Amino acid sequence: MQAPPRLRRASQARSRRGGAGFSALLWLFGIAVVALPFLRERDNIGSYEGDFGRTSEKDVPFADAQAAVEELVPGVTALIAKSSDEYFGLQSPWLRDSGAVDFFRIPSGRQNYEIHCVGCHAATGDGGGPAARFLSPRPRNFRRGLFKFTSTDAASRPQRRDLFQTITRGLAGSSMPEFRLVNEEKRWDLVEYVRWLSMKGEFEQMMLADAEDNEELPDAAEIADIVIKRWHPANLRTIYPGIPETAYDQASIDRGRALFNDSNKGSCYTCHGPAGRGDGQTADAYKDDWGYPIRPRDLTAGTFRAGSEGADLYRTIAAGIKGTPMGSFEGALSPAEIWDLVHFIQSLSKR
Ligand code: HEC
Ligand code: HEC
Repeated sequence: MQAPPRLRRASQARSRRGGAGFSALLWLFGIAVVALPFLRERDNIGSYEGDFGRTSEKDVPFADAQAAVEELVPGVTALIAKSSDEYFGLQSPWLRDSGAVDFFRIPSGRQNYEIHCVGCHAATGDGGGPAARFLSPRPRNFRRGLFKFTSTDAASRPQRRDLFQTITRGLAGSSMPEFRLVNEEKRWDLVEYVRWLSMKGEFEQMMLADAEDNEELPDAAEIADIVIKRWHPANLRTIYPGIPETAYDQASIDRGRALFNDSNKGSCYTCHGPAGRGDGQTADAYKDDWGYPIRPRDLTAGTFRAGSEGADLYRTIAAGIKGTPMGSFEGALSPAEIWDLVHFIQSLSKR
């Protein structure tokens, strides 16, 4: 599917802005990357065909969205540029002293991001790199502060170690590669850079949304403060397994199957289907919060983006997958029940 002409022009304009050498590098990278989804077709479960191109109304390039609001609130573009630099720029003493970002890691983070990540996630982190339109699911747009695979509750931003795990292990069944070969310190630098892109993006998006809603220039100091508090490690609520893993045996698997199909408990079957094949009644009904179609996973395939170990699956069920229809089950299910579900899911792909 082609992107609508207006959006296509915008993305062409964006790619013209980069230097020639830089974009050649990107393209080389892009071409290598485009082959990936085909090579990995076997694993490419739960994603949509024909989801190509930037076709989501919720995921419009920021410059386009900004131009529209500028007509309503003149001066908003200039204010966002100035205040983004003032609060979230890398010379900002305010940001350095906020305790939310490890400043020392940013320069190396940026360097490595430009080598490894920019082809998919783009320089601004909006997920619109040159390879992105060929990929399904789409590379993450970091500028919403929304991450899928976290160990935190629904209201919290991800922890550093959640992002570290994603970067280290990649996301199986998607084109997000693993970066085990990048040394550990550099992976932490990348984590910090992604967090920074995310905060800055969230700030700019909130400024724009506020201007649009109130039809006046927003209060930058107030919005900067909200964003930094959201990301401050002290304000993240983490989900831990309530009890150590229970025994993996037939009784636990059977209890898990019953919970999976219990409409008062997990209700997992409504999306994932009674046998976990990803074919529940509502399976075709969903879009994710970025506006792209999303399907419940076929749990019999044994490919789990956030990992297949007991602790990984526990985390996925307890914390949910943010930005997708799969919500958090912490509280709704007891820790012992979550372990039963973990064992049932593991049994589906054990032969
Ligand atoms: C070949 C394209 C590609 C490259 C290169 C790539 N990513 Fe990704 N990345 C993706 C895709 C696709 C997703 C979304 C997968 C999904 O939605 O399940 C993603 C998701 C992510 C996420 C979000 C995970 C979450 O919980 O939501 C992070 C963080 C991330 N990538 C970081 C990086 C970093 C850092 C690099 C460079 C070191 C990188 N990526 C390189 C394709 C890529
Ligand atoms: C409202 C629909 C819905 C319900 C209810 C639901 N899920 Fe999901 N689930 C999804 C979607 C959509 C995905 C795919 C997310 C993605 O592609 O990133 C998913 C993915 C998963 C995954 C794969 C995680 C990974 O790492 O790849 C597991 C495991 C899972 N669900 C288990 C469950 C269990 C157990 C329940 C019941 C307690 C449940 N789900 C209830 C929609 C749902």
